[in-house]
Amino acid sequence: MPRIAKGAIPSPNIWNAPQIYELENRAVDPEGAADEAMRALRPWKGATVLDIGCGTGFHLPALASEAAQVIGVEPHGDLAALAVRRCAALANVAVHAAAAQDLPLPDASVDVAVARWAYFFGPGCEPGLRELNRVVRRGGAAFVLDLDATRGAFGRWFSRTVPTYSVREVESFWDRQGWQRRPLDLRMAFERRADLEAVLRIEFTPEVAEQAIAETPGLELPYPNVLRWRYY
Ligand SMILES: C[S@@+](CC[C@H](N)C(=O)[O-])C[C@H]1O[C@@H](n2cnc3c(N)ncnc32)[C@H](O)[C@@H]1O
Repeated sequence: MPRIAKGAIPSPNIWNAPQIYELENRAVDPEGAADEAMRALRPWKGATVLDIGCGTGFHLPALASEAAQVIGVEPHGDLAALAVRRCAALANVAVHAAAAQDLPLPDASVDVAVARWAYFFGPGCEPGLRELNRVVRRGGAAFVLDLDATRGAFGRWFSRTVPTYSVREVESFWDRQGWQRRPLDLRMAFERRADLEAVLRIEFTPEVAEQAIAETPGLELPYPNVLRWRYY
């Protein structure tokens, strides 16, 4: 059994199938629209950037090419180890096995915090938000990027897979926290049809995945997201 930090919320896609999740990482947002949207709101050149729930660290090298310092935090011990291996040659990257609720970082030590596909930031994540408040410096910003379950076929497939997910509850939670939001129309683009099908099979229940595959011709699919943020 891998060591998993307290407070982690299971993430079956990457926990059970990290190699297929890697294909998903490569396929998502080939234009880099998400990074561009975040950078426009709070640039991170020369900054200290924290990636919360960094998984296998797919996004750490790109962050490290611009930021002065990058810290990845991931509660699943095996995934954190893969992130360490991915970034072994990057002197400005550190990875910690920890959860959002208990960040192993000093107060006021981060300029930009990013959490991608971060379902663990939603109703009930107040302890994680308190940690952001503690570690992000004044003048900094935090971003939470996630699937927008209100839009498109992807949102419909997700809602059928996770029927307990309440869009209304999620939106009113973030409103109460005073975070801003904007929709982001991302896409996934694959090189091989087999990769697209494998990714849909790790994202949805078997029945929903087969429907998603039948409804998705070719090598691409829209991936409607929502970007949330606040300044500190
Ligand atoms: C869908 S994956 C996204 C991984 C990565 N952000 C990426 O873009 O490839 C969600 C990640 O959040 C991690 N996670 C789950 N609960 C968490 C928590 N409480 N704090 C921080 N990370 C968490 C999971 O272990 C998983 O690696």
